[in-house]
Amino acid sequence: MVSKDDIQKLIEATDMAALVSPYVKLIKSGSGYKGLCPFHSEKTPSFSVSQDKHMAKCFGCGKGGNPIQFLMDIKHISFIEAVRELSKINNMELDIAPPNPLEEQYKKYYEINELALNLYTRNLWHTKNGEKALEYLYARGLSKELIEEFKIGLAPSESDTLYQVLKESNFLELDMVDVGLVRSSGDRYFDVFTNRIIFPITDERGKILGFSGRIFNDSDKQTAKYMNTSETPIFKKNNILYNLERAISGIVQNDRIVLHEGFMDVIATYRSGIKEAVCSMGTQLTQNQIKIIKKYTNNVILCYDGDKAGILATYRALDMFEKAGLKVKIVRLVDAKDSDEFVHKFGTDKYVEYFNSHQQEGIAYLYQSLTENLDINDTDKVEEVKKTLFSILKNKQSQSLLEKYIGSLADLLHVSTSSLYLDYDRITGFTNKNVPRKPRTDFDLKVKKIIISRIFELRIFEYAKISKRNALEIDRFLEENDAFYALDSKNQEIWILMINDFYKKNEDYNEQKFIELLEKHNLFDCYYNNALSLKNGSFNKYGDIDLQACLKMLKENAIAKRIGKIVENIKNSQEINSDLKKELLLKSVAERQKFEFVRNKNKKQKNN
Ligand code: GTP
Ligand code: MN
Repeated sequence: MVSKDDIQKLIEATDMAALVSPYVKLIKSGSGYKGLCPFHSEKTPSFSVSQDKHMAKCFGCGKGGNPIQFLMDIKHISFIEAVRELSKINNMELDIAPPNPLEEQYKKYYEINELALNLYTRNLWHTKNGEKALEYLYARGLSKELIEEFKIGLAPSESDTLYQVLKESNFLELDMVDVGLVRSSGDRYFDVFTNRIIFPITDERGKILGFSGRIFNDSDKQTAKYMNTSETPIFKKNNILYNLERAISGIVQNDRIVLHEGFMDVIATYRSGIKEAVCSMGTQLTQNQIKIIKKYTNNVILCYDGDKAGILATYRALDMFEKAGLKVKIVRLVDAKDSDEFVHKFGTDKYVEYFNSHQQEGIAYLYQSLTENLDINDTDKVEEVKKTLFSILKNKQSQSLLEKYIGSLADLLHVSTSSLYLDYDRITGFTNKNVPRKPRTDFDLKVKKIIISRIFELRIFEYAKISKRNALEIDRFLEENDAFYALDSKNQEIWILMINDFYKKNEDYNEQKFIELLEKHNLFDCYYNNALSLKNGSFNKYGDIDLQACLKMLKENAIAKRIGKIVENIKNSQEINSDLKKELLLKSVAERQKFEFVRNKNKKQKNN
């Protein structure tokens, strides 16, 4: 990883006058030099070079700065290229990102993308329709300079303008289609993007990988708001962070990155002066993106939308980043759903002020977002909160944090801390040895038993993911043994989704697709918690057990659950007559016999 210190060394090693002199005729002035600005035309020199401060900057137009910035501005190159060039000049081997081998292989594609962007930007700035798009962008608070800097364009509204332009430049149809800009229909070719505001998506060197197009007319509301280039050899959404090209110098120099959900949020943060902002392409954060981030910094500021989906995405990202060893802070917006809206409502100054003073630790954010608006009488919700919070606390391995949040939660729920410690044990699988505890009671053992069978319950999903055949076999078993209703109610829903929806349409399991389905049915939360408890809980300890044993355990569990239900009914039935009580009791005895029978059989088989 290139560090801030490396960059500083590079800057300090530079002879500024020598760097600048090919472009500016310098005259000695005080301890430094002066000259006519190379970035704008002027008659009296306002371009100033300081050897000691390592700066070359124009006080008229503001361009230039440290040697890296100067090179970026004068040669129109990216931060990475400027660093590479400067380290060559100074004989320091400092290369942030090695040249991309794909650039040679897919040269044609990059050329096509360049040409397309050229058309899109011309179309934005010099047409009647462009005026409307510009009006829209101005209304969203983007200035002319910013639109230029982000190279925003407009796809023509005719159906094949780009195709004709590319054809005139002798590009092959095959390549235009492969790079995702043109599609064929019968023997004709059409542009993929029409009448959308176009955001070019580049890599950190500024090479165009693909595009995203946004509608800007109310009349277009029936189509998707944003449309991206489909996956191509050079456009792979999972490996892309929007705006990395412009953000990178800030990321390295300030040693942090800001992660948003949407393009417009990135631009809002950027124009507020916080330049190290990026986002993924409307998809969830991926391990590849984390890898890219880790090349440049270990500090992440998450600033996602404030809605339910945004909170969930924050949990997920937080977890992934912490597992990858990065430090995370979270900015939670209030009174605005995202950064773009915040800046629009309150202005850039207020935004920066808010942004800088509202950076929470992950755990504080979690606790706050989990508990505000929590109905403490809703036991399912409370249980969910405990599960999420405790799993995270377990990962933290900090006794003081544990005490702090167990204390807060106990106050909030009006329960004792010791009961919460017990819950903590149950949920995380008895690993917190540091808390002083009473000797194990019958109750503890019962709890332990529940945990073990819960683990088996989650385990069937793992088996079902291996193949459709597995899934159907498990499903039949659950049906035949009446064990389905022994599953946790949310898991029942997930299971139905998997069998009756997912595997109805798909032959092979695909996690991404299944997660999308879960999200549609508001079950991702629970599924995610399950995955957490499998990872954190005693899964490994019981992980080697085979499918048959797992199913047997579930069967036992189902019967035990039925007995529990019946006994509960008897307890609650003071009103009912003694005949009914008798009947229920007999039923319970019959079930218990069945239970003993199954358990003995299982035991015998195990011993054999
Ligand atoms: P604005 O409405 O322009 O402010 O966008 P936003 O940044 O607020 O977008 P939103 O929060 O709705 O979505 C966040 C990101 O998800 C966007 O930047 C897009 O990358 C992506 N996105 C949103 N809508 C769509 C869509 O309809 N299709 C696709 N493929 N991506 C979308
Ligand atoms: Mn928005």
